[in-house]
Amino acid sequence: MKASMMSMIDKRMIAMKTGKDDLLGILLDSSYEEIKQHGNSNFGLSIEDFIEECKHFYLAGQKTTKDLLVWTMVLLGQHPDWQARARDEVLLVFGKEKPDINGLNRLKIVSMIFNEVLRLYPPIKTLERMVHEDTKLGNIILPAGSPLRLHLLLMHHDKEIWGDDAKEFKPERFFEGVSNATKGQSSYLPFGGGPRICIGQNYAYLEAKVALAMILQEFCFEISPSYSHAPHTIIPLQPQFGAHLILRKL
Ligand code: HEM
Repeated sequence: MKASMMSMIDKRMIAMKTGKDDLLGILLDSSYEEIKQHGNSNFGLSIEDFIEECKHFYLAGQKTTKDLLVWTMVLLGQHPDWQARARDEVLLVFGKEKPDINGLNRLKIVSMIFNEVLRLYPPIKTLERMVHEDTKLGNIILPAGSPLRLHLLLMHHDKEIWGDDAKEFKPERFFEGVSNATKGQSSYLPFGGGPRICIGQNYAYLEAKVALAMILQEFCFEISPSYSHAPHTIIPLQPQFGAHLILRKL
């Protein structure tokens, strides 16, 4: 990973003058600015820092979005009615053309499906926090310094919050948006919350929408009889024995 990051950074450094319109370009540019301002290369980021930043984005952004797409395929393979509704919407918006940004923002059914997939299978299953001052939470006193772990998987499957059908795939829950589905409570946090909320969430939605729209335009798919449902609760949450799907060209 380090070697492939290094080669990307090298290429980007050589092409610096051609623009800074991607994340790596912006990072490099801001680091050069800092060095220029202080006249000293002790300022700005070192190559090691760049590699760490790139690894962070790669690890935080690649597998999580891949798993959103994988679970979506599994669930749409099991629920052909929702697959057909998603395809109808995609064909209505794009026909057979390549998805564009305006159209992606109009994909309501697809968004509802992603929301429900992230409820049932949040790629990151826990959020970690630290209590900074003594805090009363209901009847519990949490002393300053206590580490807290919020279990998204349990919260997203809680029948008291989501109803008796909490374990079922029902994208219609999100028909009127997330806050309506959660009745205004913070009980749905696939991207975390507060100041450290995932910075890639809009990008992840766009990326997954492009991929799903292009798949739906070309293929119909169903779950294979060899698929064994065994979500693996490592990070990110993924099908332990793979997602066996049968695709047919439309
Ligand atoms: C479906 C896809 C994704 C999911 C479910 C997801 C989920 C999360 C979660 C739960 C957190 C922790 C937030 C918190 O503690 O409150 C997080 C943080 C983060 N995510 Fe994502 N993420 C996704 C995609 C991405 C993408 C595509 C990128 C970047 C391109 C990204 C970059 C980050 C970064 C940098 C952080 C750390 C933010 C910070 O600590 O300030 N994520 N993500």
